[in-house]
Amino acid sequence: MVLVSGSGTNLQALLDATADEAFGARVVAVGADRDGIEGLARAERAGVPTFVRKVSDHSGREAWDEALAEQIAEFKPDLVVSAGFMKILGPRVLGMFPVVNTHPALLPSFPGAHAVRDALSYGVRLTGCTVHLVDSGVDTGPVIAQEAVAVREGDDEDSLHERIKDVERGLLVEIVGRMARYGWTVSGRTVRLGGEQG
Ligand code: GRF
Repeated sequence: MVLVSGSGTNLQALLDATADEAFGARVVAVGADRDGIEGLARAERAGVPTFVRKVSDHSGREAWDEALAEQIAEFKPDLVVSAGFMKILGPRVLGMFPVVNTHPALLPSFPGAHAVRDALSYGVRLTGCTVHLVDSGVDTGPVIAQEAVAVREGDDEDSLHERIKDVERGLLVEIVGRMARYGWTVSGRTVRLGGEQG
């Protein structure tokens, strides 16, 4: 299942890839932390169940984490993909499911919500994207895969982010596909979609 907060182009790439059975996985549900986003509309158009769990509907982060975990569990996913989900996941969700996140920078450089802006203002000539396992920190979990993107003269945050997202979508689809077909062991934890997890 996939968690989104925005436009959902990474989600769309997964929806497109999983339309082919040979991919080996399907998106069982899409969850969001807010209403009215394009990511939810993409899921609806693909006939995938959706839900919204807002932090503001709960007494605090702990209760939200609990409710989100329960909601995710209803769909019995083998893997949770955080694809532009702009909330830090809590211990309950992370304890119940393997979660991978896609981040628009080469971690451990430029973690956090403004990775592309931060990379540009630092003046790096090379940045990129990272698919990593989520742990309790902010973009600190074990790296699964990375791909580099060169910064061009005259790039602004939007132009650079768009080029990163082009690469990011391909990388995310590739990694989820490999997890589905062969399983993936990272930091002693094996993620296998449709199979057992160690
Ligand atoms: C991606 O670059 C993701 O890494 C970042 O936000 C963007 C989400 O894009 N955290 P989209 O919603 O998948 O189009």
